[in-house]
Amino acid sequence: MNRGRFITLEGGEGVGKSTQLRALAAALEARGIDVVATREPGGSAGAEAIRSLLMEGNDDRWDARSEALLFAAARADHVARTIRPALERGAWVLCDRFVDSSRAYQGGGGGITDADLLALHGIGSQGLLPDRTFLLTLDTAEAARRLAVRDAGGVDRMGSKPADYQARLAARFAEIAAAEPDRWRTIDARRPADAVTAAIIAELESWL
Ligand code: TMP
Repeated sequence: MNRGRFITLEGGEGVGKSTQLRALAAALEARGIDVVATREPGGSAGAEAIRSLLMEGNDDRWDARSEALLFAAARADHVARTIRPALERGAWVLCDRFVDSSRAYQGGGGGITDADLLALHGIGSQGLLPDRTFLLTLDTAEAARRLAVRDAGGVDRMGSKPADYQARLAARFAEIAAAEPDRWRTIDARRPADAVTAAIIAELESWL
C-alpha cells in the first residue's frame, strides 16, 4: 500500500487555517481519500496533555527553551501515535501547524536558532517533514480584525501577543517558505474561504 500524503497549514493567527483544514478534509473525503485531520499542539492523548501546559497559565509560565522543548515533546508523541501510523496505512494527514510553527514562533520570537529547533525535531520526530506545506497569508490588519471576532471570549496563553509580533512572525514564515520552495506553497487568504480552498486543492491536483 502507498504511504499517504502529509500536508500542513501554517501562518499567523486569524488567517483561517482551521476553517481551511475542515474544508480541505471534506473535499478530499468526497474524493474517497481516507483523511486524518489533526492540529498542533495536540493530536494525541499525550500531546493534548502537553497542550494544556502550553496554552494555560501566565505569559511567563515557561521560558523560551522550556517552551520549545514542550512543543517538540508534544510533536514527538503526535508523530509516533497519530501521524506515522496514519501515513503508513495510506491515509492523508492534514495538520493545522507543525514544526514550521516552532521555527517561526520559538525561532522568530523566542530566539532559539533554527538549527537547534531542527535538532530537537530530529530527536523527537526523526525529522519527519510534510510533503506539502501551505502558508496562508493575510495582512496584519485583516488578521487582527478576524481575531477580534474569534477571540471575543478571551485569548489563551499563546494568543496574547502584540501586533508587531504578528508582523515579525509573518516575515519569518515567508523566509522559511522561500528557502524550501519545493515543499511550500503560499496562498493569499484574503479571498472568500471557498476560493482559498479551491486554490489549495489546485496545488494538490497532481496527487489526486
Ligand atoms: P492556534 O493554532 O490555535 O492559533 O494555537 C496555537 C498557538 O501555539 C499559536 O499561538 C501558535 C503557537 N505554537 C507555537 O508557538 N509553536 C508551535 O510549534 C506550535 C505548533 C504552535
